[in-house]
Amino acid sequence: MPGKQWDIFTLDDFNLDGRTVLVRVDINSPIDPISGRILDDYRIRSHLSTIRDLERCKVVILAHQSRPGKNDYTTLNAHAMRMSQLLGKRVEYLDGLFHGHVRRKIRSMKPGDKILLENTRFYAEEIALKGEKDRSKHENTHIVQRLAPMIDFFVHDAFATAHRAQPTLVGFSELVPNLAGRVMQKELEDMGKAFQPDLSPKIAMLGGVKVDDSIDVAEHMLEKGHMDRILTMGVVGHIFLMAKGIELGKGSMDFLQKEVPRYERYVKRASSMLDRWGDKIKVPTDVAVLNDERRDVITDEELPVDAPIMDIGIETIVTYSQEIENAELVVVNGPAGAFEYEEFSIGTTELFRTVAHSDAYSIIGGGHSTAVLEKLDISHSIDHISTGGGSCINFLAGRTMPGIEALKRSKRIFKRGPFQARR
Ligand code: 3PG
Repeated sequence: MPGKQWDIFTLDDFNLDGRTVLVRVDINSPIDPISGRILDDYRIRSHLSTIRDLERCKVVILAHQSRPGKNDYTTLNAHAMRMSQLLGKRVEYLDGLFHGHVRRKIRSMKPGDKILLENTRFYAEEIALKGEKDRSKHENTHIVQRLAPMIDFFVHDAFATAHRAQPTLVGFSELVPNLAGRVMQKELEDMGKAFQPDLSPKIAMLGGVKVDDSIDVAEHMLEKGHMDRILTMGVVGHIFLMAKGIELGKGSMDFLQKEVPRYERYVKRASSMLDRWGDKIKVPTDVAVLNDERRDVITDEELPVDAPIMDIGIETIVTYSQEIENAELVVVNGPAGAFEYEEFSIGTTELFRTVAHSDAYSIIGGGHSTAVLEKLDISHSIDHISTGGGSCINFLAGRTMPGIEALKRSKRIFKRGPFQARR
């Protein structure tokens, strides 16, 4: 039982019938900025098991969507509608978090009722305290202080954000019993298998645009010897190419300036990582650029070019595929390029297929990865598809996860009452 192994409470430890339960999920989803349409509902579907297991409770759901300033930073109205469709039961959306109308609604709820509150990141406390280590600061926020008296239990199901310390993730741990939801339980159980000591070599493929998480984690993985090799791709690959002293050219630099604030500091860190572990970090040797609306593959030596880099090239695909075929553990986070465009999906598609066909224990995470797996119809060949991106790689790097620490702390506090565990 993961609950036992991790020494945390789960939904099975208490009789929750009739109780008011605050459930923190991670349904942060790719959204079309123009239409507001949810493009991939994998995370929403993943949490249904937890919500269904709370059918006899009054369920109040908390979640976030994106980050301030991004074009998919929006309300959770569409998420409530999608969740209602998938559940076949109404999930009412309320445009507030701890305001009077929300608290009045919670007081009037009956068992079976479900409400989804507003995007937690619309509220300053959630953003301002991100990463704060002092637990009491999270606990003393208005969000936590106003919601805590209204609930009996807090269910932490947001594995995908468990690497963040924010009030709605860690602030309730000493106020009410915190229980792991079904997603959290499964993630801990399946990802725990990656720590088997006899798996070797272990490789991590880091792509996508969330460079901050990837650089941090790659450093930690190599420092602690948790991974034998890091394969860089996507925008993470851009950063390592620059760390090797390669100029990318105007198109890629415009993209970096827009999407990766203060990218220079990541280039600096990547460069000292290459000094220390040059033999363990693989950097693309060729790339595909968008040239007059078509895919052109060029080698690193042909950079810089004005056309933006959109994918890895065939030589890199072959080198990385050989690494995957020799590995016993493969962790993938994020795509190799702009896979949403057919001609630039080749790197992601080929590497994901190789992972699916390899004998390695495979874990794939990252917001957009699930959409690719489903499109290729290879989800069933992956050992574990994590709901997490940054959290998945942080966990596998063996880093402390504030969300999991909060669950452990809550159990230490509440195991002797005032709430008695069922067993
Ligand atoms: C994710 O999508 O990885 C999680 O929801 C966390 O989002 P964040 O990186 O914006 O904190």
